[in-house]
Amino acid sequence: EHAASGHGAHAAAAAGEGAAVIGAAATVATNVVDLAVDPDRPADVRVELTARAERVTPAGGRPFDGFTLNGQSPGPTIRATQGQLVEVVLRNEDVPAGVTLHWHGVDVPNAMDGVAGVTQDAVPPGESFTYRFIAEQAGTFWYHSHQASHPQVVGGLYGALILQPADAASAADAIVAVHTYPGGQRTINGATGEARQAAEPGAAVRVRLINTDSTPTSAWVTGSSFRMLAADGTDLNGPTSVDGRAVPLTAGGRADLEVTVPSAGAVRIQVPGASLVIGPDRAEASTSPAPREQVDLLSYGEPADAGFDAAQADRRFRYDIGRLPGFLDGAPGYWWTINGGIVPAVPMYMVQEGDVVVMSISNNSGEVHPMHLHGHHLLVLSRDGVPSSGSPWWVDSLNVEHGETYEVAFVADNPGIWMDHCHNLPHAAEGLMTHLAYG
Ligand code: C2O
Ligand code: CU
Repeated sequence: EHAASGHGAHAAAAAGEGAAVIGAAATVATNVVDLAVDPDRPADVRVELTARAERVTPAGGRPFDGFTLNGQSPGPTIRATQGQLVEVVLRNEDVPAGVTLHWHGVDVPNAMDGVAGVTQDAVPPGESFTYRFIAEQAGTFWYHSHQASHPQVVGGLYGALILQPADAASAADAIVAVHTYPGGQRTINGATGEARQAAEPGAAVRVRLINTDSTPTSAWVTGSSFRMLAADGTDLNGPTSVDGRAVPLTAGGRADLEVTVPSAGAVRIQVPGASLVIGPDRAEASTSPAPREQVDLLSYGEPADAGFDAAQADRRFRYDIGRLPGFLDGAPGYWWTINGGIVPAVPMYMVQEGDVVVMSISNNSGEVHPMHLHGHHLLVLSRDGVPSSGSPWWVDSLNVEHGETYEVAFVADNPGIWMDHCHNLPHAAEGLMTHLAYG
């Protein structure tokens, strides 16, 4: 009896030790569809978007065969407040390859992530798909098709998604969605050249920069002092003036700036080839060449608690990017490699719910890669061994230059199968993609 009770106590202790693992496994086994929003809850923000293949003419630009959402490109801006349930009904009228919508930077439940072939089938012509998610984050995001992503995004299937904090009085903002349409037509909010937005002298404006292109760009400001308030939809701690510097914009990345309209004249937000003037009607705004110095978020702002301890990592991964010669559509070319392998012979990163994951991403491929992980935000720990010394720097789109190594960390808190790929969209089609999976 004594032995039996001893054995029982031992078994109970073992079960106790194992409980966390078993509990985590049980959570992981949940069907991802069950993690989506209660189907009976009414939407707070409801948008219907109809995708069409048609001729598009950017304001001030030249027509091309592209795509629209509700007859326009970019598609309508979607705005919601933190905590609201967003419902978007996507209809495909006649896009032959099918369409989806991905909420870039929003850590939605997996089933709502909009990745054709991973979280849903592409919506064929004549059909629809309804996305429902709660706006848990507040910040600047964007949406785009994730089916035949390169031609569809370049051709027009994208738009801005702005999630406002529940507590803040809605400050004036200005969206600057940078996009290059076929034929090299650089636009801001769909217009070539100079766009304008009215604002009173003295007004503080939150400028929401979104780089929807496949290549990095930068933005700079004339006519106002400015601070960088957020990167990739996450506020930076202790923002300070960045006057005289340019703000780097990763492909797929966002940056929020705070500018003030001067008492005379206007503010100009410039990117190479286009600009947005913010101020009273017809007020003049000067132009300036791109500053040579760029803001470096590795040391910008004030340190703060990031909410978890990356030193206590449960898993460490390497993600080394290279390239190898191969055949692309039957023609010789280069494939991007991950840890030396060509897709599909590349690692799938397996985690368990609750893991603290540290990943080192290095690039020795000869070109820059804007790496984008779905469903999670990554905390930048270091670059080339130099630790982050400023604000916690959270990214969903990280510009990794040739020769660079970043160390990043995240908490695995969003079960599912998630794409992790280069947001230079042709590169993703050339093999620079893998998945993060919970198991
Ligand atoms: Cu902005 Cu996988 O995408
Ligand atoms: Cu790339």
